[in-house]
Amino acid sequence: MNILITGGAGFIGAHVVRLFVNKYPNYNIYNLDALTYAGNLENLKDIENKTNYNFVKGDITDQKFINSLFKSYNFDGVIHLAAESHVDRSIKDPLAFVKTNVIGTMNLLNACNESWKGNLQGKRFYHVSTDEVYGTLGETGLFTETTSYDPNSPYSASKASSDHFVRAYGETYDLPYVITNCSNNYGQNQFPEKLIPLFINNIIQNKPLPVYGDGNYTRDWLYVKDHAAAIDLVYHKGKNHETYNIGGFNEWKNIDLVKLLCKQMDLKLERNNGDSESLITYVKDRPGHDLRYAIDANKIKQELGWEPSVTFEQGLEKTIEWYLSNKEWLNSVTSGDYQSYYKKQYSDS
Ligand SMILES: NC(=O)c1ccc[n+]([C@@H]2O[C@H](COP(=O)([O-])OP(=O)(O)OC[C@H]3O[C@@H](n4cnc5c(N)ncnc54)[C@H](O)[C@@H]3O)[C@@H](O)[C@H]2O)c1
Repeated sequence: MNILITGGAGFIGAHVVRLFVNKYPNYNIYNLDALTYAGNLENLKDIENKTNYNFVKGDITDQKFINSLFKSYNFDGVIHLAAESHVDRSIKDPLAFVKTNVIGTMNLLNACNESWKGNLQGKRFYHVSTDEVYGTLGETGLFTETTSYDPNSPYSASKASSDHFVRAYGETYDLPYVITNCSNNYGQNQFPEKLIPLFINNIIQNKPLPVYGDGNYTRDWLYVKDHAAAIDLVYHKGKNHETYNIGGFNEWKNIDLVKLLCKQMDLKLERNNGDSESLITYVKDRPGHDLRYAIDANKIKQELGWEPSVTFEQGLEKTIEWYLSNKEWLNSVTSGDYQSYYKKQYSDS
């Protein structure tokens, strides 16, 4: 069985690739990644020599290249994670998000259609998406799989659009697909532009912790390995043409999360209680900032038996410990050195 995983050098993708390579030695895993600023092959150092793991450098916005890849490897399944994923970047350059998230996804859908024509048995296109497609909630309520899409940022609009195309290809061409919409992930190997690793890094360096607005924005948080386990389950057991929400049953106001992180960091770094909290600074709000996301993940729990394996406190502690004992990784990412890893490992020039 040949499985294409896109975006496998990114944060979540690397966890999914590792899980599949280790758990399914009889699957050939092809990790396709363009290695943008967010792609880091050092995330996969531990499995890069496994015989069932293959890395392909390439861009999903290139339809010809994608078609030729499908011709070469006859993929049985696609788990699609490659994306531009940072909301702040999408505000500065929305078109980049349309190109990768919408057109890139369509190119993969087209290649699946072409390659699987007349033989859909055992085939599956899995789109990894976000809860941000649902827009924002007020003080109460939860996103369910039937909540209407109402995206507010260019990032969430691009993911909503790609979700719609996946569903449309399912209806129009009978493409076997599943979609999952997941809440905010955290854990090891996350690029330090996102809240938790950014703040861990800033606390280590005694730099300010910039909290948007009044800090009352609320998000649901999920440990990345629990997300990878959910993806494994949905890929193998989910029903075609279905959507599953994935979440941590774990809502936090940003400011409360930051204060918990500060407390745990003071303990780990043996600093005085309150040292890290004193670094908090409130900064001008992000435009179009969604007030609250909260996920009802009961469908995947009841139908497929998935639930998070760690509490937030446990997951956060594991995450902090990982960043503190992997300072080399952090230095390599913040200095930009990680971008030369592909050249060193994969090409002679
Ligand atoms: N991070 C989260 O909290 C979260 C939550 C829910 C859903 N998601 C979704 O999960 C997926 C992965 O998110 P992440 O946080 O790991 O993202 P990431 O930014 O860490 O990784 C994205 C990866 O995609 C690659 N990529 C980007 N453009 C590409 C292109 N044109 N062709 C090929 N590869 C390309 C990058 O090099 C990178 O390795 C995304 O689709 C995202 O929308 C993320």
